[in-house]
Amino acid sequence: MKLRRSVLYVPGNKPRALEKSLGLAADCVVYDLEDSVGPGDKWQARENVIQTLSLGNPRRQERIVRVNGLQSEWCEQDIAAVRSSAADGVLLPKIEAAEDVDAYRQLLGDEASQHTPLWIMAETAAGILNMQQITIADPAIAVILLGLEDLALETRIRHTPDRNGFLYAMSASVMAARASGLDIIDGVYPAFRDSAGFMAECREAVTLGFDGKSLIHPSQVDLCNQCFTPDEDETRRAEQLLAVWDQNRRQGQSVVVFDGRMVEHLHVKEARRVLALATAARSEP
Ligand code: COA
Ligand code: MG
Repeated sequence: MKLRRSVLYVPGNKPRALEKSLGLAADCVVYDLEDSVGPGDKWQARENVIQTLSLGNPRRQERIVRVNGLQSEWCEQDIAAVRSSAADGVLLPKIEAAEDVDAYRQLLGDEASQHTPLWIMAETAAGILNMQQITIADPAIAVILLGLEDLALETRIRHTPDRNGFLYAMSASVMAARASGLDIIDGVYPAFRDSAGFMAECREAVTLGFDGKSLIHPSQVDLCNQCFTPDEDETRRAEQLLAVWDQNRRQGQSVVVFDGRMVEHLHVKEARRVLALATAARSEP
């Protein structure tokens, strides 16, 4: 099982942050050439990111590069740089239709486009509404990242602690991801010094079905991993459920009762997923 609990953005124009990223426990790192890098820094950022990717990967992170938008003057060279780098994938911003993904694929070229996993940003109204058609159209898409900051700007949805205004976008993205067998990552929590608020948002993301959360600061990494990893209690319950299931199955029953609740085959699948996640988390470097 691939862990994608914590996805840390690292601005390409911040050498200290790039260096620091190599030692962090984030499952995935997104080296950013887009929103966090100003126009005057784009070239240097690209060089920095390529250099960082060449340094090796001591913590076996999944390393992704976020390129600039199709209409920008930087996109083509960003893609060329990713193609010849050691990146594990490319993150495409503001995807609104299957044609947008095709356009990036053409820039990647036939060969690279076959073996470069695509991550896409769901961060516009059209992107959210079209997400299912987009993900079904392209088997190279591996992950959807939600971008609620851009979405707020476009839609005028206000940020509130309960995130009520974003519920539709969050749930629609989870549905699109599951319908295509993809991972889905929640947006960032910008108030990075507020760990209580951050953890509340992580727990909400778990409840809504997300696999992980986008992060902006190293202090968020451990808290995020903790929230998206089954705790001891959840792991023990999954083990007990499987034991009860096996015992009852041997007696020929296909529906059993565990802890006062009905358990069927589907619950067994979920218990196995929980245990696989816990095991993968324990074997992290
Ligand atoms: N990745 C890796 N390291 C990071 C980091 C990140 N995203 N953000 C901060 N750091 C490092 C700093 O370089 C600093 O390292 P040092 O102490 O070894 O010198 C350390 O963490 C502490 O940083 P701090 O001083 O607390 O943060 P800051 O005030 O300098 O910066 C932000 C705060 C939010 C501006 C910064 O964290 C950032 O740029 N985050 C990413 C933003 C981004 O990518 N946005 C696009 C997606 S929405
Ligand atoms: Mg954006």
